[in-house]
Amino acid sequence: MDQHFKDGSDFATFLDNNDPLGHFRQRFYLKKNTIYMCGNSLGLASKDAEATILRAMQKWKEEGVKIWNVEDNKYHLYSAELAKLMAELVGVDPDEIAVSASTTVNIHQAVSTFYKPTQDRYKILVDNINFPTDRYAIDSQVRLKGYEPNDAVKIVKCRGKLMEEDDIIEAMTSDVALILLPTVYYRSAQILNMEKITEAAKSRSIIIGWDLSHAAGSIEVNLKSLDIDFGVWCTYKYLNGGPGATSALYINRKHFTTLPGLAGWAGNKPKTQFQLLQDFDHQQSASGWLIGTPHVLSTAGLEGSLKMFNEAGMSNLRRKSLHITAYLMFLVDTKLAQYGFTIGNPRDDEKRGGHVCLEHDEGYRISIALKARGVVPDFRDPNVIRLTPTALYTSYEEVYKMVEILLDIVKNETYKNVSLIRNLVV
Ligand SMILES: Cc1ncc(COP(=O)(O)O)c(C=O)c1O
Repeated sequence: MDQHFKDGSDFATFLDNNDPLGHFRQRFYLKKNTIYMCGNSLGLASKDAEATILRAMQKWKEEGVKIWNVEDNKYHLYSAELAKLMAELVGVDPDEIAVSASTTVNIHQAVSTFYKPTQDRYKILVDNINFPTDRYAIDSQVRLKGYEPNDAVKIVKCRGKLMEEDDIIEAMTSDVALILLPTVYYRSAQILNMEKITEAAKSRSIIIGWDLSHAAGSIEVNLKSLDIDFGVWCTYKYLNGGPGATSALYINRKHFTTLPGLAGWAGNKPKTQFQLLQDFDHQQSASGWLIGTPHVLSTAGLEGSLKMFNEAGMSNLRRKSLHITAYLMFLVDTKLAQYGFTIGNPRDDEKRGGHVCLEHDEGYRISIALKARGVVPDFRDPNVIRLTPTALYTSYEEVYKMVEILLDIVKNETYKNVSLIRNLVV
């Protein structure tokens, strides 16, 4: 895509008129006078997601317990059904994905499966700028095995704003048993070089798992060619599955015969599940890592949403995302930099995810002032306003308008009227 951007609303309109994905926008619930920039946190509701949620509700109303049998046991096997829709987006086989639980629970599931510490190799390698739930899960997993996190959890420290991949590789010493890292950092949008890091881990026989929460539906990944051991991601951000929508767990098929750390009857082979035998008959696919009854109502939105992703195509979505975020960065550079704004994310296409990380010393108050003007961003300490123009539903005109609003807020210093007392959810 041409990246010779110009200032002015006419140019934004021109970009919208030439956007091959622009028509998807009509399928979302967009509010008049609101510019939604928070798809990195919770994706917007679409008519497609609503339809599949209502359909599940209708089946429950009509069928009661027989909902499990309708349409060839679709809802009973809902995880496998959705895995078929998700597989291509992350480049794996459908039977390598389980759609279940939350990301944090899936981390517990994967780590309890693959973390097999020995006297010489008992450490888990993490970094110090990942979303903290991953760390909480890892700390509790090592405690469960009788270790202390300050000994068994090895933390790679970020030296500046961005993580150095070589620091991670250097930390892969012979006492490391397992690694968990994010593909895209939630604050800076930095993409780690999964290939280089995974290769290094494999050559040292270290199990490696990735948290793709800010990658799935946002950037292109091919987990199969990377040959990672496991992956987890949420579906309520870029994948627009709905608030608290069911998450995903990827298990590399080479591990299918390994028993899950946390077994439950949903991971039993479907053929024998209802025989209710006392011995676990492990389904040898990612479905074997399911624990309990499918969360139909929190999964159903994902069905409609994923179909839309497949219709649009992940490479087209990434192309637009790179283009619209580049446009936003162009406007920040040309119009906002003089007011103390900087771009905190890497600029290189290979290195940045789906959001723009706008930094300002007064970031918190500016983010609140933006909300008062109908823009929905989010804020992450100490100074980051995260802005996500999403490929499926954000227009170039909205990006342009938002920058104009930001300009007005800083020129007139209206953010100075905002209280510094914070809300619970920011
Ligand atoms: C990298 C990462 N992992 C996990 C989560 C949250 O996981 P859960 O689905 O358990 O709430 C987030 C939420 O923002 C995240 O950014």
